[in-house]
Parts: sequence; structure tokens; C-alpha cells
Amino acid sequence: MIHDSYAYDAAMLDDLVRSHRPGGPLPQAFYTSPAVFNADMDRIFGRYWLHAGHSCMLPEPGDFITWQVGSDSILVVRGRDGAIRAFHNACRHRGARLCRDEIGRKPRITCPYHAWSYDLDGRCLVKTEKEFGVHERELGLVPVRLRDVAGLLFVALGDDPVDFDSAAAGIASLLAVHGLERGKVAKQATYDVKANWKLVFENNRECYHCPSAHPEYIKGTYDVMRLDPRRAAEVERVAEAANRRFAALGLEPGDASSRMTEGFWRARRAPLMEGWVTQSLDGTPVAPLMGNLKDRDVGTLRITVFPNFWQHASSDHAVATRLTPVDATRTRVDVWWIVDKDAQEGRDYDLAKLMPFWQRTSEQDWAICAENQAGVSSRGYRPGRYGLTQETNVAQFVEWYLGELQPRQAPLKVVSA
Ligand code: FES
Ligand SMILES: [Fe+2]
Repeated sequence: MIHDSYAYDAAMLDDLVRSHRPGGPLPQAFYTSPAVFNADMDRIFGRYWLHAGHSCMLPEPGDFITWQVGSDSILVVRGRDGAIRAFHNACRHRGARLCRDEIGRKPRITCPYHAWSYDLDGRCLVKTEKEFGVHERELGLVPVRLRDVAGLLFVALGDDPVDFDSAAAGIASLLAVHGLERGKVAKQATYDVKANWKLVFENNRECYHCPSAHPEYIKGTYDVMRLDPRRAAEVERVAEAANRRFAALGLEPGDASSRMTEGFWRARRAPLMEGWVTQSLDGTPVAPLMGNLKDRDVGTLRITVFPNFWQHASSDHAVATRLTPVDATRTRVDVWWIVDKDAQEGRDYDLAKLMPFWQRTSEQDWAICAENQAGVSSRGYRPGRYGLTQETNVAQFVEWYLGELQPRQAPLKVVSA
């Protein structure tokens, strides 16, 4: 069922999908049209698992976060039993939004309109039967599906989300040792990026732009160097040495490649450049070790989940990025720097050392994305072609997107004469 807020013409969408030439960027309307935006919110954001935040953002009972995504506002709250639950942030009386703040702590959830209140587990606390003719047990907050994957909180807005079990198991098996659930947000940065959410994700899916755009990033990682045949042997040697170290630490093997050939998620450890133990400007540590890690040199664990999340976790901090589509040409982007919860600013870490690697890289990306949107929006835009080695991940993202955008057709009934 198409959500009332997201009307679009399925026939128009079919025509648009057919007008795409595989192996290159999407036709203009995919990046500019409000109707396609509606289809994205319905078909992609309404069916996939979306990163809402991290469990460490709500360490105590009553701690909550809210997240506005399209027409939905989601309330994620930790109950007195310690469990984290998600609800639609809408009152069961006449629908008012319950919490305006994006983060906070409350003993119960009280509606600002007529002051109905709800327990942290969503139960309505007002005796409603006499006045309203409905028992309060019928008036609990509407739950939203939530998965806590080793500290990453994913929600599914629609009634029939895609299967997330293998993604959750695969991510948790690699991420658990990083102890994100015992972390804290050292810093959050929020950006209003003037680009369609797909352009932002497409940019994340390749490092072809890295040499020209990211002087800091390319010093610490192999994404660019691995593509240079003259340095292939060096990358191979470093990856092998890293894998011996990882194996000795009981960690899964790493891979200098950033390949992602299918599906909507990946979790992969990648070695850092020799001499680099974390993603900081000079590769030296910027915070205490996290989780159960015993060694600083564990490379970086990269996690990507379509359509709105990626994260790099080093031994001493993690940097997570969440995309929130705002309209056809704007995306809110939140970036979080996460360290161990016992680390104290000024004593154990310094934001001026912790942040620049990803702050600069991210801001360079948002500027590129805005320029990309500006050109794509013009009359002069003609979709080009993706590189066959450097942009395969972008092609994979676009093919995934198009495949998910079209409603599954019911098989045609063959009526024999
Ligand atoms: S709308 Fe919430 S109490 Fe009336
Ligand atoms: Fe980039």
C-alpha cells in the first residue's frame, strides 16, 4: 500500500526505470523529481531497515531519541527494563507529535496537547474507558520494528520490511568486539546537503574521486592505492601482514578491497596504511581502546547498509554517518564520533585530534555532492558512464535501487482458451 503522503504514478515510474541505461548514472528525474522522491520514500525507505541511531545514545531508562524521516517521526526509548523500543511519535488521542526534542530523558512520555501520558514501554497511562469509550490498553503507542545490532539501531517503518537476519548476524559478528554499546557520542555534526540522497550514497560508493577530493583520507587507506598496478604487490604484502595480526587477535581476516558486488549491506575489516593504527590525520591513536579490543592495530571495520548508513570503526573510535532524505534535492546528514563511554574529553581524547580526519573528508564529500546535484539538475545533464574498475560499486548501488523501486508484479495469470 502506498502511504498517503507519498503519491506517485507507477506507470510514470516504470517508464523512467526503462529509460535508464545500465552502467551509467540515472536519468535526471531520479535526482530532481518530487514524484520519484515519493516513490523512494515508499519503496525504499518504507521497506528497508534504516539506521536511526546508536544504543549508546540512550544509556539509561527514560533516555530517548527521535528521528524525523519523511512524514514519519520515530521515538526510540529505553524502558525501565533496559530494553530499547521504537514507536511512532504520535499521540493515540488525536495524533499530536509527542516529543519535539531529538534527544533527552523523561520519566514518561506526555503529550503536549491534552497531556495524555504513556509509560516508557508505550502503555497509555490515562484511564480512558469512561470518558472516551475505549479501554486504555487499546491506546498504547504504535510500535515500530527495531533491531539492535551490536549497538546500531535499525528501524523498519513499513508493514513488510525486507529480511534483515543475515545482515544483522553478519554485522554483529564483526562489530561486537568494538563495544559500541559501551560507547558515547563525543561529537555530532549535522549537515544540510543540497543533493538527492542517492547522489550522496553514490559518492560514498567509489573512491575514484578520492585523489582529487580527499588529501587526508588517501594518506591512511588503501582505496586508491590498490587500484594502481605498480603498487599491487605492496598492498598485497600489507594486507597479508595485517591478516596475520588480525588472526593472532582472534579477528576475522581483512581485505584491502572495498568491493561490494551484491545485496544491500556489507561489513568488512580493511587494513590501514603501514604505521597507521587509526583514522586520524597522522594515524596515531586519538582515544582509549574500545570494547574488547586488546590491540590498536585492527585496521578499520567498514559497515555499509543501504539506504542510509555507513560507519568506519577503528580500535579507538567509530565514525557513523546517517542519511535522512528531506526532499528531492536535499539530504540531512548526521555524523557521529563515538568513543568509549569512560573516556573523558581533555584527558583521554581531544576533539581537535579526534574529528578532522572524517570531518574534513565528510565536508569535502558534501561539497562534491552539492556540485553534482547542481549539474545533474541542469538542462545540460546527460547521464555518462561508470568506470569499469573504479565505479563498479556505484553501478551496483544503482542496480539495487532500481530493482527495489519497482513493486513486485503479481505473476500474470495465464488463462487457457
Ligand atoms: S492529542 Fe495527545 S493528548 Fe490529545
Ligand atoms: Fe568521498
